Amino acid sequence: MPSISNLALAGLLAAGQGVSASLVGAIQLEKFIKQETPIALQGILDNIGPDGVKVPGAGRGLVIASPSTSDPDYFFTWTRDAALTFRTLIDDFLFGNKALEPLINDYIYGQARLQTVSNPSGTLLPNGAGLGEPKYLKDGSRYNGNWGRPQRDGPPLRAISLIQYSNYLVSKGQKARVKDEIWPVIANDLAYVGQYWNSTGFDLWEEVNGASFFTTQAQYRSLVEGEALAKALGLPCTACAEAPQVLCFLQSYWNGKFVTANFITGAHNRGGVDANTVLGPLVAFDPAAPCDSPTLQPCHPRMLANFKNFVDTFRDPALYPINKGIPQNKGIALGRYPEDTYYNGNPWYLITLGSAEYLYAAIASWEKSGGITITTTSLPFFKDLYPLARVGTFGKLHPAYHIIKGLIKTYADSFVAVSQKYTPKDGMMAEQFLKSEPFSPISARNLTWSFASFVGMNHRRQGHLPASWVPKDGVKLPDTCVGTSVRGTYAPATQAGAPNVTIPCISNVLFQLNASTYYGENLYVVGNSPTLGGWDLETAYPLMSSRYTAERPLWFATIPLEMEEGVTTLRYKYARQQDCGQAWIVEEGERVLEVPACAKDGSEEVLAERDEAFVGPAGSPGGC
Ligand code: NOJ
Ligand code: NOJ
Repeated sequence: MPSISNLALAGLLAAGQGVSASLVGAIQLEKFIKQETPIALQGILDNIGPDGVKVPGAGRGLVIASPSTSDPDYFFTWTRDAALTFRTLIDDFLFGNKALEPLINDYIYGQARLQTVSNPSGTLLPNGAGLGEPKYLKDGSRYNGNWGRPQRDGPPLRAISLIQYSNYLVSKGQKARVKDEIWPVIANDLAYVGQYWNSTGFDLWEEVNGASFFTTQAQYRSLVEGEALAKALGLPCTACAEAPQVLCFLQSYWNGKFVTANFITGAHNRGGVDANTVLGPLVAFDPAAPCDSPTLQPCHPRMLANFKNFVDTFRDPALYPINKGIPQNKGIALGRYPEDTYYNGNPWYLITLGSAEYLYAAIASWEKSGGITITTTSLPFFKDLYPLARVGTFGKLHPAYHIIKGLIKTYADSFVAVSQKYTPKDGMMAEQFLKSEPFSPISARNLTWSFASFVGMNHRRQGHLPASWVPKDGVKLPDTCVGTSVRGTYAPATQAGAPNVTIPCISNVLFQLNASTYYGENLYVVGNSPTLGGWDLETAYPLMSSRYTAERPLWFATIPLEMEEGVTTLRYKYARQQDCGQAWIVEEGERVLEVPACAKDGSEEVLAERDEAFVGPAGSPGGC
């Protein structure tokens, strides 16, 4: 049989490319990957507390998204970024980097504690709502600012990472430790998935509310794997019974041509093309699952069609000048979604690299299953790379198998080459790089997730594959989808280091404030309750302006007030935050409220109302 590389070369020749030029490119790519691998790994470690050199003050085991403190301020820990980063670190550990184990243990400790932190999404007890909080301050305390919350991908992603490590421990005979220490963390997250998978939440980009393919796919995997782990430990997982319904819902994102990334509540301008649908299958990847599995693996015909549709969207030079003139069979720079305006909407390293990882994963599945099946749905994807492609199944004995595999590997590499081209000499990866001249890095520098995406991409490129999770006897797809939900039970994972919190004493108070504001100005309540930031303006409680009219300049919020032990009098002030970082305008006098006795059962009843008007000067725009 002719060697694979010879056939790949033949493929390149067929595509009419200069062999010497592509060989030079291939050698440079290998060199880049070799250099970047330790840089990326170190880049991750530098951003994890308490010892990460770039993130002083970060709590133990907490992953800071980026050391950047302004434009943008990413000096926070996001549950999603952290879980995805540890997915890759745990992989790296399982592939032989034993030095990472203490860090993995710090992660477990950090997450067990975070689960108990009361926050604007809610609390752990009694209903788990607090688990949907997207981000926390560097030391793990609550972030009160306005944000797209809740985000429901954090708990399943965290569960997936922790299950990955737990399965390893179980295989090493450490069942008891998993049961006592790690399972309680996982169990909270699974309970959350089972209870809220059918409730709306914000997408991974923190912008649109509704349901999101990425989130649903992660939710499904977490329940299936959770069930298997529970079984191994001899424990129940009530939430896990929701899995078939989540899988049913997952199918509904396919629109006949591509995967619509989100079902969005309210008005929006999104066409549905979104990297969320490429990143989801990376999380759900199981090299042993068949390509037609409804778990929607990277090699699924629909997902390949979707991949092509996603990539092609960014080939438009009017959208992305950076991709101008790049032929259809070569990788390009990729961003979140075409309508993106964040930093003007640019390519992201983690998406460009994630797309390479996607293709390596698909190749791994074909290798395992022993062939490539091309359907009418996936044919256009294959034709871009191999114009002679046709519908059919091509086993490993068929020459087309090797040609196609070689071409797809080359295609995958070309996405890595794009990120190589736009990575500065020192190897530091920001969040984005400009879509137009000078194509330089922009937004958060040293983004942990960018580095993790590089390491994760390279695992797959090297043939390091994750453990299988899709049941060997297939998965059950119900005949009809029903939006069910099962109420969860939650408890602090004290063995892992969580404080032994109890149901918090919360009194819901409706604050209504008349205050005329200009566009860009925001209003907050600050005061002596932790909910109100404990007098710290940076963590004051934001009011909403969604009912603001010219007749009634209303700012309001129903605030779940938590008071410190023994304190029943709330002291507070309203504060205006200006648009360009000018000084805050804070009321002079203190307001006082006798806080009604709290509801111990997590009830959402509003116990008191305030109707007040701002006392003090108006703000003025900074003109930034
Ligand atoms: C910060 C979010 O993280 C980012 O995804 C979003 O685009 C911007 N806020 C603007 O909403
Ligand atoms: C913005 C991204 O949209 C979001 O997904 C991410 O969690 C944060 N940045 C932090 O990296």
